[in-house]
Amino acid sequence: MCGIVGYVGNEQAAPILLDGLEKLEYRGYDSAGIAVCQDGKIKMTKAKGRLKVVGELTHNGETLPGTLGIGHTRWATHGEPSDVNAHPHMNKENSIVVVHNGIIENYLKLKNRLIEKGYEFVSETDTEVVTQMLDYYYNGNPLQTIIKVMHRMEGSYALGIIFNDHPHQLYAVRKDSPLIVGKAKSGNIIASDVPAVLKYTRDVYFIENEEIVCLTEEDIEIFNVDEEIVHKESVRIDWDVNAAEKGGYEHFMLKEMYDQPKAIADTISPRIKDGKIEIEELGLSDEMIRGIRKIFVVACGSAYHAGITGKYVMEDLARIPVEVEMASEFRYRNPIVGEDTLVIIISQSGETADSLAALREAKGKGAKVLGIVNVVGSSIAREADSVMYTWAGPEIAVATTKAYSCQLVSMYLLSMKFAQVLGRITDEKMLNLVEDLKKIPDQVELLLSHKERIQKFANRYLAAKDIFFIGRGIDYAISMEGSLKLKEISYIHSEAYAAGELKHGTISLVEDGTLVAAVLTQEDLYKKMLSNMVEVRSRGAFVLAVTQEGNDEVERASDYVIYIPNTNKYFTNSLAVIPLQLFGYYIAVGRGCDVDKPRNLAKSVTVE
Ligand code: F6R
Repeated sequence: MCGIVGYVGNEQAAPILLDGLEKLEYRGYDSAGIAVCQDGKIKMTKAKGRLKVVGELTHNGETLPGTLGIGHTRWATHGEPSDVNAHPHMNKENSIVVVHNGIIENYLKLKNRLIEKGYEFVSETDTEVVTQMLDYYYNGNPLQTIIKVMHRMEGSYALGIIFNDHPHQLYAVRKDSPLIVGKAKSGNIIASDVPAVLKYTRDVYFIENEEIVCLTEEDIEIFNVDEEIVHKESVRIDWDVNAAEKGGYEHFMLKEMYDQPKAIADTISPRIKDGKIEIEELGLSDEMIRGIRKIFVVACGSAYHAGITGKYVMEDLARIPVEVEMASEFRYRNPIVGEDTLVIIISQSGETADSLAALREAKGKGAKVLGIVNVVGSSIAREADSVMYTWAGPEIAVATTKAYSCQLVSMYLLSMKFAQVLGRITDEKMLNLVEDLKKIPDQVELLLSHKERIQKFANRYLAAKDIFFIGRGIDYAISMEGSLKLKEISYIHSEAYAAGELKHGTISLVEDGTLVAAVLTQEDLYKKMLSNMVEVRSRGAFVLAVTQEGNDEVERASDYVIYIPNTNKYFTNSLAVIPLQLFGYYIAVGRGCDVDKPRNLAKSVTVE
């Protein structure tokens, strides 16, 4: 989604804006632009395409001198990607300039009113409406004007605003779109996400909904809509700056796959004490856990897939009924939740608009909400009743890998904890599970070391048109993730099917040479899976199998086998996902795709 950056200080703004925007590139965008104010004059450069176009047009910012500026990477929602629709947007007099992340839902109504008053629009964007409204209401007092405009806007926004008659002040405001403020040595910075400011500061303020920020070189002032000062503590970000850099890897995605052993270990270790699971931050007493009658796991995309795996593990281990639902569905269907329901929202970014709305829906109905979140201080982390962080560190590649792996182990930990409290697991079984859990990081490392083999195999399928992923039970959950990983970055059509469902229609698509990736790690479903593999193979499919070591008969029912190390039946997804991630990655690399920034996708989906 769009990224915004703004700077006011004693250094040239443009290079800082370009650098910050580059750090936000991972969010996905199709045009970019910056505006800088010098001596009360605002100049801007914006263009369709990559940020480097703006860098070239401005000679890396040199043609836009000044120490106050805002910048933007746009992910088109209203109006096609084009120079004119790119942000920033200025009013006619070039006295007010705005960048915006989010969607103004009532923009048409507002636009028509402004047109009646004689305003002319040059772009198709909802953002230009914000600029013109600021122009219309401007009374020389930026704070009052912004508040007036806020009262008229419906939707979501993080805005960066400059008024040329306040040439030393940078304004920003948010509602349901992320916004942080960084306090640097040379000045102050606003941004959509922490990586944009890490080079300059580690002290950031997380701005809440309907807070307005006024930054000068020295000061950060935060106001509420009643113009009252809001006092806020800064948060120290202790990530390693390198964590947000490629560190010698060809792509962030590859680096992040290699980060997985550490990320998983960091997520697991603080929660294992004396062979038992202790999740201090859970915010649920044993008594409360005993009172839970139903769990909803609500999420989007890969996080939703982690929820499906979680359902299998939680229901089998703790025997609590679990329903997993896409946040975009849950939020609009009046779900039946109450005080005895636990709603778990899983999200890497903690900013996904649908997941945040689902959280609010659940809370509004009296449910207890637990967030499983990666980005510290994000909206979901702050609004959930309690939060269990996945310690994956910053994830930059659009396609999630390490955060997903951490979401999986978080669901294992929760399931084990609940089973422990409910007395549904013996001490011996718990000890065995804990031992297996601790082994996952090394097993993942081992699987990663076989990457060349998977690369070779992937190279044979670069021209594939359709690839199917099949599995049963928990292996169906990982098939969904394998299929999504492949299609989102390689643009090859792919579907995941519960293997038993194939013959109810989809098998008619299987023809000579169709690649079917079959995951079979569950002993009790092993024979059934073998039959399904034989079914597709006898119709011409080429079968790639992913199975546990020792399952040698799989060789006879498939054309190529990838073995994963042995673990218990609950944790196999954490291992099977590694070859599937590598497979998707190498297919995308081989096809020359932009692996880290696939077309049409955004890292943080802050609009519906
Ligand atoms: C796929 C992927 C997406 C996200 C989804 C939810 O690789 O990354 O499907 O999982 O957009 O995002 P978060 O976890 O940030 O809520």
